[in-house]
Formats: sequence, structure tokens, C-alpha cells
Amino acid sequence: MTSFLDIHTTSPEDLRKMIDSARAMKDARNGRPKGALDDDRPLAGHMVALIFEKPSTRTRVSFDVGVRQMGGQTMVLSGKEMQLGHGETIADTARVLSRYVDLIMIRTFEEATLQEMAEYASVPVINGLTNRTHPCQIMADVMTYEEHRGPIAGKKVVWSGDGNNVCASFLHAAGQFGFDLTFTGPPTLDPEAEWINFARSKGVDARIERDPYKAVDGADLVVTDTWVSMHDPESAKERRHNQLRPYQVNEDLMARAKPDALFMHCLPAHRNDEATSAVMDGPHSVIFDEAENRLHAQKAIMRWCLGK
Ligand code: CP
Repeated sequence: MTSFLDIHTTSPEDLRKMIDSARAMKDARNGRPKGALDDDRPLAGHMVALIFEKPSTRTRVSFDVGVRQMGGQTMVLSGKEMQLGHGETIADTARVLSRYVDLIMIRTFEEATLQEMAEYASVPVINGLTNRTHPCQIMADVMTYEEHRGPIAGKKVVWSGDGNNVCASFLHAAGQFGFDLTFTGPPTLDPEAEWINFARSKGVDARIERDPYKAVDGADLVVTDTWVSMHDPESAKERRHNQLRPYQVNEDLMARAKPDALFMHCLPAHRNDEATSAVMDGPHSVIFDEAENRLHAQKAIMRWCLGK
């Protein structure tokens, strides 16, 4: 049993196995009702706790549905309604939950909370997003790219906008899956140097280009995300919008990418801020495939965690 805490701390071989397993499970369900159980039910008899200290639509529903399809059961817990939100330590919460459930998924603020949960739990823990990373999302994104265009290794990915937690996990994936990543955004919102250095240490081209048009030139995949993340203060909104406006992904910018380039956004989106509706609903966009693939990728992650 192993926790899935981040892409850069999981081996490339295991990440590849998870993508292949996700594809196989998706193919096996082809044409079946969404509520149907999988033929193979590796989570039968298993209970999964899904803890949310931040809002969620995709993560919450896709984990819940994924567990049920694989024959397991879930309990969705709001951090605020648990003793966790009223002073009980993470360590004690981890030890108590481990007596009841077989797997814990947590969406939280601080990376330290996730790490402490994993340290003290005697069952695997999955990172459902922290302020620093969002690995489940990027596993779904790699799966989505490969479903449409084949191997992502050697491709040019461009991240336009805020160098946030989703961007961080994309940089980790660049290193582990072997693709190049160019970040374009204002200097105040650069991704952490540690993440860029991680990708570079794996031999891929990870770079910063301030001019979004130069950055997107020849891209195979263009990605963006909301300009104000869940952990950013509301007071930062106007400043961020002003700084990020030049990095909006619109049809002019997409025209600089390769003709068969894909566009991704992990959602939720603020339409016509970080990306125009013309791009989000246009021929390059695979945003709803990404959302669907959260389900399949996370099923593979859960199986890996439980050695199933
Ligand atoms: N992309 C993503 O994690 O969506 P939710 O915040 O709705 O879970």
C-alpha cells in the first residue's frame, strides 16, 4: 500500500502503469451506463474517506463515482464539520480514520497537512489538491493528451497565466513523462524555481518566456487555469486580473500554436478571463475530456495505492 502524494515523488514507471490502467478501465466501460459497476471490482469491501477542506465539483464527484464503480463505498467529509476543523490534530485524525477506512483522499490548504496525514495514517493517502500541487488533475491531463494525440513525451506544452499548484504538477509531469514545458506569465506569478529545476533535472526543457505569443509558437498543448485560486485572497483579484490579462488564451494566441494543438483547462473556468469561450468551446479544446478522465485516472491511482 502506497500513498499518492505527488507526481515528482512517484516513479515514472508507476505513473505510466497508472495511465495505462486508466485507459484500460475507460475502454472496458465503453458504452455502459455511468452508474454500472465495473466487471472487475477491486474495491469491493473497501471504504474510502474523501475529505474536503476546500470546495470541489470534479474531485468530489469523480472520486465518489470511481470508488462506487469499483465496488467500494465512500464517505464524503467536510473539514469544517470534522473535529479536524475544531482543533483535533491531523496526526490524531489520521490514526482514527485509519481504524475505519481503507483509503483517505484529502483536499486541503497546506502541503504540511497532507504530509502529516500520510505520515500518521496506516492506510494510503491521496493528494486531492493542496495550495502547492494538484497531481490527480495532471494524471488526467496526460491521459487526455495521449488519448487524442499519442505519446506526450517530447511534446511542447505551454502554461499561460498563473504559476499555481496545477502548473506545479504540470512541471513535475514534464520531468516524469519527458515533455518540454514553457511557462508564460508575469514575473510575480512565476512557478516555484524548485519545480522548474525538478523538470530540468530530468533533462527536459523547462523555461520561462514573458511574451505569450513567442511562448505559444509551435506548441502541441496550451494550458491555463483560473487567475485567482481558492487560497488567494479576494483582495488580490483586481491586481491579478491586470497582471494576467495579456496571458489570456484567445483565438489569436491559439493561432500561434501548431494547427493540431490541444487546449486544456482543469476547470472551473472564468470564461473570457483566463480563456475565451471561443477557445474553450472551439476545435482545440478537450476540457470536458479532461474532466471525465479525472474519474478514470483516479480509479487507477486508487488501485495502485491499494496494490490492486
Ligand atoms: N479541477 C478540479 O479539481 O475541480 P474541482 O475543484 O471542481 O474539484
